[in-house]
Amino acid sequence: MRYILFLPVTVMIFLITSCSTKQSPSIVDLSKPWKFKAGDDLSWAAPGFADAAWDSILPGKNWEDQGFDKLDGFAWYRIKFYIPSTLKGTSYLKDSLQILLGKIDDCDEVFLNGEMIGENGKTIFQKKEPDEEFIKARGTWYTDRKYILPTLDPRIHWDRENILAVRVYDKNGPGGMFASPYLISMLDVPDYISFGIKGEAFSFEGDSVMKKKFTIQNTSAKNDFTGILTIKAILYENGITIYERRSKVTLLKNDTVRDSVMIHMDLSKPAVLLFSFDEKNSGKTISEQISSAYILTPKTGELPRINGPKVFGIRPWSPFLFKIAATGKPPLKYNAINLPKGLVIDTNSGIITGSLGKKEEYAVTLKVENTQGCAIRDLKIIVGNAISLTPPMGWNSWNCWGLSVSDKKVRQSAESMISSGLANHGWTYINIDDGWEDKHDKDGKILTNWKFPNMRGLSDYVHSLGLKIGIYSSPGPRTCGGYEGSYTFEEKDAQAYAGWGIDYLKYDWCSYGNICPNPNTADQFQHPYQIMKRAIRRVNRDIHYSLCQYGMGDVWTWGKDVDGNSWRTTGDIDDTWESMSGIGFSQGPCSPYAAPGRWNDPDMLVVGYVGWGPSLHYTRLTPDEQYTHLSLWCLLAAPLLIGCDLDQLDPFTMNLLTNDEVLDVNQDPLGKQATRIKFNPDYEIWAKEMEDGSRVIGVFNLTEKPQNILVNLKDLGLSGAFEMRDLWRQKDLGPVSLSFEKHVLPHGVALLNLAQRNGGIAK
Ligand code: GAL
Repeated sequence: MRYILFLPVTVMIFLITSCSTKQSPSIVDLSKPWKFKAGDDLSWAAPGFADAAWDSILPGKNWEDQGFDKLDGFAWYRIKFYIPSTLKGTSYLKDSLQILLGKIDDCDEVFLNGEMIGENGKTIFQKKEPDEEFIKARGTWYTDRKYILPTLDPRIHWDRENILAVRVYDKNGPGGMFASPYLISMLDVPDYISFGIKGEAFSFEGDSVMKKKFTIQNTSAKNDFTGILTIKAILYENGITIYERRSKVTLLKNDTVRDSVMIHMDLSKPAVLLFSFDEKNSGKTISEQISSAYILTPKTGELPRINGPKVFGIRPWSPFLFKIAATGKPPLKYNAINLPKGLVIDTNSGIITGSLGKKEEYAVTLKVENTQGCAIRDLKIIVGNAISLTPPMGWNSWNCWGLSVSDKKVRQSAESMISSGLANHGWTYINIDDGWEDKHDKDGKILTNWKFPNMRGLSDYVHSLGLKIGIYSSPGPRTCGGYEGSYTFEEKDAQAYAGWGIDYLKYDWCSYGNICPNPNTADQFQHPYQIMKRAIRRVNRDIHYSLCQYGMGDVWTWGKDVDGNSWRTTGDIDDTWESMSGIGFSQGPCSPYAAPGRWNDPDMLVVGYVGWGPSLHYTRLTPDEQYTHLSLWCLLAAPLLIGCDLDQLDPFTMNLLTNDEVLDVNQDPLGKQATRIKFNPDYEIWAKEMEDGSRVIGVFNLTEKPQNILVNLKDLGLSGAFEMRDLWRQKDLGPVSLSFEKHVLPHGVALLNLAQRNGGIAK
């Protein structure tokens, strides 16, 4: 069953009328409290087992969130319920019953009335050490648990009490039955037919045609279905239907129909696309919707514009590499006035190289020219102890390629960083995550595996493009992906990285948990990071040191003491609203600790085609959720590491990643992280101080309905008059004082700059 979300009233009315023929199937609700016990005993599957003394737990929420903190290993859930035979009458097909158990972290075996009816991943997750099989099955926890039984199956007790017992095994981290739905229903026509509209990006033709590919799939092996397919596009702002198409469609058994729609429209206007299929014989309607990929970022102009950081830190005698990021009609001619001795610029590529020996500050003027005009901008070069004076911007292989990353994919990503134009907006790092390592040889040198035949060659290639290269390891014996870590080889590894020309190290706790199982003192948390800090200090290279230990021991309070340039503050992100917003909006407590060279890292960007393994899908975040994601990460002064395949950049993702006014919020030299000004279940307001004295305000709608959100300047510590600018649209909105109201779309954002005007005061 699919649900209708995110719609203005006018659109809702349309849907209610159009879906009036659809009857909701009756269900047995399993979302009530279950009985729960940690441990493992197969007799707990028996229907007669007395579980009255067990704890009570809700499905749909990890057990950690319900008082069972740090519980790993086995646990059991049990629930009793009644299955009425009247349920059969609610289905057109009448032949099968489905039991939906949401998702289960990590794996499960399910028993109905004492008999096993299904399992998911158990053999793999019971292994002690991660191996290849484990690695491939990482996604098991994310699989929808849907167990199907024929209605005649004797394990179903019709019109009697039934007992479901679920044996769960959780390897580590959060555990248990999470994510909905929890119910039993008859399998019917809508369960076999599904639209595929979310796995692929929108494409555009010219400036006014939006194209969307879609599929309709029939997974029934027994039945063909016939019906009417309706597709509509409705504008958010007024509910007006700007496109409608109706056609007769036959879906053969086990078949998928592929098609696309082309809609002439203003691409800057948000719309919703509604797909529905009215199946003739059953009278059931299957519907699905998607928000259109509307464009906020104005096209880059022909005149030169200089982007990227305005301040750059380097240690004495470290190799200097900085590519001037600039847009404008090619060819561009780059120059740097007052470039200190020791540095040279390639005027065709804008790449500055060399080294500087003295601790000193240099004020350089960058100049970029083309046939249309000229742009100039100051760049402050600070030779001292600090690097990464603005948050790193780049790409990391993990969210797209997972452990299948290879030399070829990294080279392609570097090429695409240049050819797509992303580098012209300041995107610089090309970071290899887990999956490149082999073993340490007899001399303790870390070897690369077969996918990376020549790391030095790869690094030289990335540098030749003016980009920087990053790598990954763990202080433990094994990385999270099961590859060889740096434990006891830290010194040698740092030398190897420097020898290859590495510029960024992500250092991931992982199996260090086996060396120090229950860290609770500052020294225990810091120890492995101190060892690598000393090793990095001994190499003549600036390596951005990125700590990855998921925020343990409030890393933001001590990350700088181990020379950390950034530190992950949370567990891994995924491409859902729950994950992204859960992480992003919880960053308030670490705000005070962000500073130039010391960044809180809420994990990488889940935009574009992601997948954590060889096969990719388009991000499940809606366009508005992605605007929120980018806006929030810029406000948080977070490292911006694109997690998608750069070879498949769709126009929406490019628009999202190339808004220079938005990126400037992230790269602001003051290096302040936004603070959370106001929050409640419906909306949040965050504000970031900028070097020029202005404030950038993020007004976020957390609900699934559009909202007018009131912003009081006094809540922001502002009084007087201010000029307001919409940073996504790069448009002045005029003067404001006291308060203003913004209309914000579901899960969307208004990102605004408030600049002082006529004596406006920012306290
Ligand atoms: C995780 C880390 C991810 C990725 C992965 C590699 O622990 O949080 O970002 O690096 O390990 O195995």
